[in-house]
Amino acid sequence: MENNSEIAIECKDLSKTYGKTVALDHLSIQIKKGQIAGYLGPNGAGKTTTIRLLLGLVKPTSGSAAIFGLDSKIEKVAIHENLAYVPGESNLWPDLTGAQTLDLLANLRGHSDDAYRKELIERFKLDTSRKFRTYSKGNKQKVALIGALMARSSLLILDEPTAGLDPLMEVEFRGCIHEARENGQTVFLSSHILSEVEALCDQVYILREGKLIESGNLTELKHLSSSEIAIQFKDNVPDISTIRGVTLLSSGHSHLRFKFNGDFNELLKQISNFPVISFFSHEPSLEELFVSLYGK
Ligand SMILES: Nc1ncnc2c1ncn2[C@@H]1O[C@H](COP(=O)(O)OP(=O)(O)OP(=O)(O)O)[C@@H](O)[C@H]1O
Ligand SMILES: [Mg+2]
Repeated sequence: MENNSEIAIECKDLSKTYGKTVALDHLSIQIKKGQIAGYLGPNGAGKTTTIRLLLGLVKPTSGSAAIFGLDSKIEKVAIHENLAYVPGESNLWPDLTGAQTLDLLANLRGHSDDAYRKELIERFKLDTSRKFRTYSKGNKQKVALIGALMARSSLLILDEPTAGLDPLMEVEFRGCIHEARENGQTVFLSSHILSEVEALCDQVYILREGKLIESGNLTELKHLSSSEIAIQFKDNVPDISTIRGVTLLSSGHSHLRFKFNGDFNELLKQISNFPVISFFSHEPSLEELFVSLYGK
């Protein structure tokens, strides 16, 4: 058990059912302060449900959720003092301008870094003079993001925050998350953009049908999926069929191509007596890992 003061988010046996739908099924996770945690899963996996439980917006059917040691169900007001939240689709006050919306958010949160706010408005190229309802989807999202980032809250809870942002803005977003990390903030990021998670997150949690099916850092998770290896030999090919973790894709007189998730030492021992011309190993991307996990 970790020292409790080191934990930003803790869910214990957290479940939520809606009628017969089990939206979240006994989730237990601990996210340490300062971590950038990626929360992934197919549509309907329970990501938003988890976030709503953490924010105290819905009550758990069983189990508990806590933020900085405070129970989300009971300490609804206190938990919001140290967090900023961005939903996937932001609908804020339609008749306020971008600037008025940011003022209001700053007042609600009670703290805002004005210099950082100004910088963010420039970086995200937001025209803050327009009324919220006249913004496009991406620009609405920018207002919500700037509103959350400028608070410099200890915890950022982001539910698909970059949905609708163009690629240049996605780059800015990534820069902001790196800054949040340097600033010691904790980030809980639900996303469908695998490259985003791959680039930003220390820990990754993968949910399917309400259940946590995998968690770990990217290196740990990549072991779940096979590397693809292609070897060109000078002459004959060795017999690798007896090595654990080998799935042969194609072979010829002098080449082998196979999927591998076994022990590399065992593999290298087996081929070391056969002169090699080229050796190509392709690590699985998060995307490939996903296809293998989601598809199961
Ligand atoms: N208020 C609700 N009433 C009934 N069912 C709900 C409610 N909220 C969520 N659900 C159900 O709970 C399950 C999990 O939904 P949730 O929104 O948490 O998924 P998600 O992982 O955020 O998906 P997405 O990637 O599409 O955003 C789904 O089956 C959904 O239909
Ligand atoms: Mg969702």
